[in-house]
Amino acid sequence: MIAIEVNKLSVFYGQFQALKDVSMKINKQKITALIGPSGCGKTTFLRCLNRMNDLIDEARIVGEVIIDGVDIYREDIDLLELRRRVGMVFQRPNPFPLSIEANILYGLKVHGINDRKLMEERLVRSLEAVQLWDELKDHLRKNALSLSLEQQQRLCLARVLAVEPEILLMDEPCSALDPIATARIEELMFDLKKQYTIVIVTHNMQQAARVSDFTGYFLLGELIEFGETEQIFTAPADRRTEEYITGRYG
Ligand SMILES: Nc1ncnc2c1ncn2[C@@H]1O[C@H](COP(=O)(O)OP(=O)(O)OP(=O)(O)O)[C@@H](O)[C@H]1O
Ligand SMILES: [Mg+2]
Repeated sequence: MIAIEVNKLSVFYGQFQALKDVSMKINKQKITALIGPSGCGKTTFLRCLNRMNDLIDEARIVGEVIIDGVDIYREDIDLLELRRRVGMVFQRPNPFPLSIEANILYGLKVHGINDRKLMEERLVRSLEAVQLWDELKDHLRKNALSLSLEQQQRLCLARVLAVEPEILLMDEPCSALDPIATARIEELMFDLKKQYTIVIVTHNMQQAARVSDFTGYFLLGELIEFGETEQIFTAPADRRTEEYITGRYG
């Protein structure tokens, strides 16, 4: 099953073309890793999947991103609803300087969920999903910024999950974390893919090999190769992919 179909996507920042005719089919309830050297367009690509690039004035996007049969670049798309369905977690955890509880409830309110019982239920369920509930249930009024970086990143994920997305975009979600916290987040991702489609950008080749089912290798704005992770890492079809994964380039 395909969750997202990207057809001939190009992105321009002014005169500069950051993505060149990228096509990719992203599978449902799988983890897809995007790898490649710095500046090759991974973040740009990820941000196209929920139209976050719309927020950048000089960005121009050409091509299609089809989710459930609809091109999300159609003019009549409800962006708030799109970003509910396609949630995003960033490199540095970015909780609001509010309580743990308020961080989760904020997103619900934005999406018009005001029913107290439902809010309570989503609060518990989303914190459970990221394995923070047992730890934090007696500290829900504590400021989110007082949490460890790993807890903050889990909270940011919970904030996204609370509005019941289908797709999770993660841009180097472990880059601010130590190896132990990273391993725990990776375990969590395994758990989450039972329910969600996950697209993760990572600089860490081992991480891509460990967690993902599919891998795409980007170079200078082009998708050089896309396939099952095992194939990409053991028998890459393109010489440039091989050079990158064996550490000879990038
Ligand atoms: N807002 C912007 N305006 C102009 N150019 C941009 C903008 N954002 C990104 N770029 C350029 O587009 C190219 C791709 O950037 P992008 O951030 O997508 O790469 P990346 O693969 O995510 O890199 P990294 O691994 O360093 O995060 C780079 O050359 C970058 O300088
Ligand atoms: Mg990036």
